[in-house]
Amino acid sequence: MAEDEANLRLVLQKELERAGHDVRVAADGEAALKLLEESNVDVLLTDISMPRMDGMELLRRVHQRPNPPEVVMLTGHATVETAIEAMKLGAYDYLSKPYHITELDALVKQAAEKRRLRVDNQRLRAQIERKNAAPEITFVSEAMRDVMHLVERVAPSDTSVLITGESGTGKELIAHAIHRLSRRCEGSFVDLNCAAFQETLLESELFGYEAGAFSGAKSRKLGLFELADGGTLFLDEVTELPAPLQSKLLRAIETQTFYRVGAVRKVQVNVRIIAATNRDINQVTGDGSFRSDLLYRINGFQINLLPLRERPEDIEPLTHRLLGDLASHNSPEIAADAMDALRSYSWPGNVRQLRNVLERAVLLSNDNRITRAELPPEIVAPAGAPAFAYAGVAAAPGQSATTPPLREVERQQILAALEQTNWHRGKTAEILGISPSTLYRRLRDYNLTRRA
Ligand SMILES: Nc1ncnc2c1ncn2[C@@H]1O[C@H](COP(=O)(O)OP(=O)(O)OP(=O)(O)O)[C@@H](O)[C@H]1O
Ligand SMILES: [Mg+2]
Repeated sequence: MAEDEANLRLVLQKELERAGHDVRVAADGEAALKLLEESNVDVLLTDISMPRMDGMELLRRVHQRPNPPEVVMLTGHATVETAIEAMKLGAYDYLSKPYHITELDALVKQAAEKRRLRVDNQRLRAQIERKNAAPEITFVSEAMRDVMHLVERVAPSDTSVLITGESGTGKELIAHAIHRLSRRCEGSFVDLNCAAFQETLLESELFGYEAGAFSGAKSRKLGLFELADGGTLFLDEVTELPAPLQSKLLRAIETQTFYRVGAVRKVQVNVRIIAATNRDINQVTGDGSFRSDLLYRINGFQINLLPLRERPEDIEPLTHRLLGDLASHNSPEIAADAMDALRSYSWPGNVRQLRNVLERAVLLSNDNRITRAELPPEIVAPAGAPAFAYAGVAAAPGQSATTPPLREVERQQILAALEQTNWHRGKTAEILGISPSTLYRRLRDYNLTRRA
C-alpha cells in the first residue's frame, strides 16, 4: 500500500490486517516499487497524489514489471478523467474517499483472487511449454533415454547435479535442459568455464568485488554466483578449479552466502549448482587435485553421458538433425555409403566433432548432396581396408583380433589428424572437434610425441 499520509496509512494497515491481509506499507511510489522488488505482492493499493512518484506513474512502472500485482487506486478527489485513465493503464479498480473498510476489503479480496488465477494460468502454460523443453536433444539409444529420464527426475528438485562425459558428448546441452525443466526456469542460467581464467580473475568472476577491492576495481561488480540468484549456476570443467577457490566455492554452496572480494558483509543467495567435467572424477580426487568434500557436495546426483561410439545408433538421427540445423529449409541429402562411414567411425570428439565434419561437408558439397568425397580422410577409410593399419596389440579374451580396443582406435585417429595437420595442435583439435585442453590431455594420456 502506497499512501503518503502517515495517519491514514496506519489506520488502513491496522484495518486490513484485522481483515486477514498481510500488509506492507510505503510512503510514496518509489518506496512502493522497492517493496515490490523484495516481496511477492498480490494487490497494490495506491493513493494518486504522493510526493516523488505519484500513483499514476507508479501504476505505469508496475506494469512494466514481469508478473505485476493488481493495482487499486485510492483517491480523495478522483475526477472521472483520472479514474478512466487509471483503468486504461490497467488498474484493477479505484475507490474514492470516503470509502468503508468493508468495501476496501472486498475489493482487495477480488483483486487478489484475480491475480492468483492469472499466476496459476501462467504456471500451467509454462508447464505445457516445459513438456517440450528438450526437443533439441536428439537420440534413439537406450543409454540416452535413461539419461533423459534422470534429467526429468532430478530437474524439479534443488539437488546439485554433476554431469560427466567426454568432450562434445552434450554435457552443456543437458545442463540447459535441467534448468529449463526446473522450477527455476524463469530464473537465469549462468555459466562459468572454470578452466578459462586464472585464479584471481576466476574469484572475481565467481563472487564479484566491491569498489576499491584492488587497483582497477573502480565500481562494484556482481559475480556470477550473485547473478544466478534464484536460478542455476553451471560450473563447466569444474575439476580445473584452483585449490583455494575450491574451498571458497564449497563454503558458498553449503551456506548459500559468500563475500564479494573486498567486502565486509556477506551476500545471501539461492543458487542451484550444476557442474560438468570430462575428467575421471575418481582420478582427480585420488590424486588430490580436487577436494573430495566439494565433489561430494556437487555430486548430489550424477549423470554420465556415454561417448558416441558406445551408442552408435544415435549417429544417424544426429546426422539428420544437425544437417537440418545447418540448412534449415533445404536440408542436404546424404549418400548411403557416406552415412555408413559416419556410422562406423569412432568419433573421439563426439557430437561436436560430428557437427564440425558435417559443417565442412555441407560447404564442400555439390547439388546439396553429401558423399564420401566430402568427408575427411580419417573418416572415409580406403575401400576394403581399415582406416589405419592396426597391429601389435594382442586381442583381449573374447575380443576378435580384427576389432581393436577403443583406446587404440582413438589413439590412431588422433595420430592421423596430427599427421594431417603436420602436428599443428590447434588445427588437430579443430578437426577432431575437441578443445585444445582435451587434446593436450589425450596426447599426455597416450604418450604421443612427434616422431623424428
Ligand atoms: N543429443 C544431442 N542432440 C543434439 N545435439 C547435440 C546432442 N549432443 C550434443 N549436441 C551438440 O553437440 C555440440 C557439443 O555439445 P556440448 O557443448 O553440450 O558438449 P560438452 O559435453 O559440453 O563438450 P565439452 O566437454 O567439450 O565442453 C553442441 O553443439 C550440441 O548442441
Ligand atoms: Mg561444454
